[in-house]
Amino acid sequence: MATQMFEGRGHAAVYQKYRFAPGEELQQTILSYLREKKAIPAELAVDVGCGSGQGTHFLGEHFKKVVGTDISEAQIQEAKDTPCMPNISYLVCPAEELPFQDASVDVLTSFTAAHWFDFEKFMKEVERVLKPGGCVAISTYTVDMSLRYGDCSEKLTKIFRECWDAILKYSHNRLKYVLENYKEIFEALPFPDKKRITDIYDQIPMTVEGVVGYMESASPYQTFLKNDPKTARTLLQETEKRMLETMGVSSRETPVEFWVRHVCVLGCKGR
Ligand SMILES: C[S@@+](CC[C@H](N)C(=O)[O-])C[C@H]1O[C@@H](n2cnc3c(N)ncnc32)[C@H](O)[C@@H]1O
Repeated sequence: MATQMFEGRGHAAVYQKYRFAPGEELQQTILSYLREKKAIPAELAVDVGCGSGQGTHFLGEHFKKVVGTDISEAQIQEAKDTPCMPNISYLVCPAEELPFQDASVDVLTSFTAAHWFDFEKFMKEVERVLKPGGCVAISTYTVDMSLRYGDCSEKLTKIFRECWDAILKYSHNRLKYVLENYKEIFEALPFPDKKRITDIYDQIPMTVEGVVGYMESASPYQTFLKNDPKTARTLLQETEKRMLETMGVSSRETPVEFWVRHVCVLGCKGR
């Protein structure tokens, strides 16, 4: 069964505001694989579970046509409302029923979304829609995140992790696929030519407000908010206050280095 999350307008808006695009290292990992497999330059890339288009945008620079797809109408509306290249369009549809013809897609990507899909049905669609020699890149950022700022990086990361651990208590059980570094997703990919990379580190440009907003955009936080709104809101307010005090600054706009670890499953359909 596919799992529907991120449906509400409010969550989609927070998501659009605070979720970040794939970092440089992740982009380069994917692009060098596609070059190695001679899958770029190419006609059509499809980004499945595109949310409000965080990963879809960078594909626009490398393909003639890019289609972002998502099961959530609210997410697709946010994506459509965000300025993007003219070769990018968006569609509402489930990952398990992609509205593309057999062997019509050059590259299929999915950023931080595949753990919500019905893997068996999704993988059948991946195999069906990709052209022979076409490639797939399925990635996620993990919960391994840290913060760097002056000489208080360790303290800051500790504050972030304490907050994050409290939020992760409300995780959906599908987060286990992220915690196991997409092992099961890798195994479900039906191509013999495949690999899984688990140590891609990226520095994401952030501010204190952005870090707190990122936590707010996480699906477990949204569950926390529904179950116990007062505690959930207080947790984020207190975390922001502690971060600012530790950094010795007063502005939420203060930049801070946010480091994330990505996992990426790459595969190529035989010719
Ligand atoms: C964590 S967000 C990732 C969004 C974006 N790709 C990013 O990198 O930030 C997961 C997205 O997957 C979508 N999603 C969940 N289940 C889906 C399904 N079965 N088919 C298509 N999209 C799905 C959600 O609506 C949500 O927008």
